[in-house]
Amino acid sequence: MKLLITGGAGFIGTNTALYFAKNKQNQITIVDDFSRPGVEVNANYLNKQISNIQIIKCGVCDIKKYISVLKNADAVIHLAGQTAVTKSIQDPLHDFETNIHASFVLLDTIRNINPKTAFIYSSTNKVYGDLDRHKIRKNKTKKQYEDACHPKGLGEEEPVEFISPYGCSKGAFDMYALDFARIYSMNTVVFRQSCIYGPFQMGVEDQGWVAHFSKQILKKKPITIFGDGFQVRDLLYVEDLVEAYDLAIKNIKKVRGSAFNIGGGINNAYSVIQVINLLQKNMKQVIPVSYVDSRLGDQKYFVSANKKIGKELNWKVRTDFKQGLQHMIDWQKKNLHLF
Ligand SMILES: NC(=O)c1ccc[n+]([C@@H]2O[C@H](COP(=O)([O-])OP(=O)(O)OC[C@H]3O[C@@H](n4cnc5c(N)ncnc54)[C@H](O)[C@@H]3O)[C@@H](O)[C@H]2O)c1
Repeated sequence: MKLLITGGAGFIGTNTALYFAKNKQNQITIVDDFSRPGVEVNANYLNKQISNIQIIKCGVCDIKKYISVLKNADAVIHLAGQTAVTKSIQDPLHDFETNIHASFVLLDTIRNINPKTAFIYSSTNKVYGDLDRHKIRKNKTKKQYEDACHPKGLGEEEPVEFISPYGCSKGAFDMYALDFARIYSMNTVVFRQSCIYGPFQMGVEDQGWVAHFSKQILKKKPITIFGDGFQVRDLLYVEDLVEAYDLAIKNIKKVRGSAFNIGGGINNAYSVIQVINLLQKNMKQVIPVSYVDSRLGDQKYFVSANKKIGKELNWKVRTDFKQGLQHMIDWQKKNLHLF
């Protein structure tokens, strides 16, 4: 298969390239503008690990630089984007240009030159807004929020509601990708991803919180929690996510035009405080933790039901959070000089 990965030097992109490179028949091309600090290191690593990978340093909009790859691609996994809510609030135009305009230019070019290619889009659970309409209760003993009405997590029937420029830009392109399957019969699939973690993540305070906390504790530096730390996310190990991309490409005729919620599910749902406690215990290190106001639009509780993806793609979570966390910590320990 000829595979193009946009944002391929980023966290999910690097893991995606390594996964698909296991099959020597696959020809992988990466397009990335290296705007995320530190990702050149991932690109160098991929260059060393994968003999026939092609890495094109350019923006998604700079289609001319990779048009020949696009024309012949069997699948495009679109990961490039502005990834932080905070940055989207500081600079909504940049967020718009990257997440909507560049993504649209890519999709519309594909419509014109290679409409049958499989197109996988990495959307987000943030398309469901802050979910304040749900009855969430606080469990002070367990230090976590709970959603008694959705004990098995949320499905795709949840109404979308875009909050923050990031929510709007990811949500808008999520809708375009689904609509291009309806209107132009394109082979698009949307993954509304929960919190993904694992090796190669350059986590910072703005985005990639599990990797960020872990790195802070390893470096014996303090942590700031936005809100009360009881917020719950279902944490998904990156390789499990990439396996879902693979299954979607293999079953594209069946799942084209679908949106899937995907996350670690109820068995891998942890609050921010619980994750910090696990990390401190793992590294036998206690670091100072301070609290500031919660972030705009921050969901108190999000857990993906994973029901539709389980049924349609026979996908399931393979990696338990504690096991995946250990892989991530091991990678960070080996690469501490990067942070
Ligand atoms: N990591 C998560 O938990 C998570 C959750 C939900 C959705 N997502 C989505 O998944 C995708 C990948 O996320 P990630 O965690 O790997 O982020 P990342 O920042 O590690 O990777 C994104 C990559 O895109 C590149 N990039 C940014 N703008 C570009 C542009 N205009 N042209 C070319 N390259 C560009 C960056 O340099 C970076 O390498 C993003 O679209 C993100 O919104 C991630």
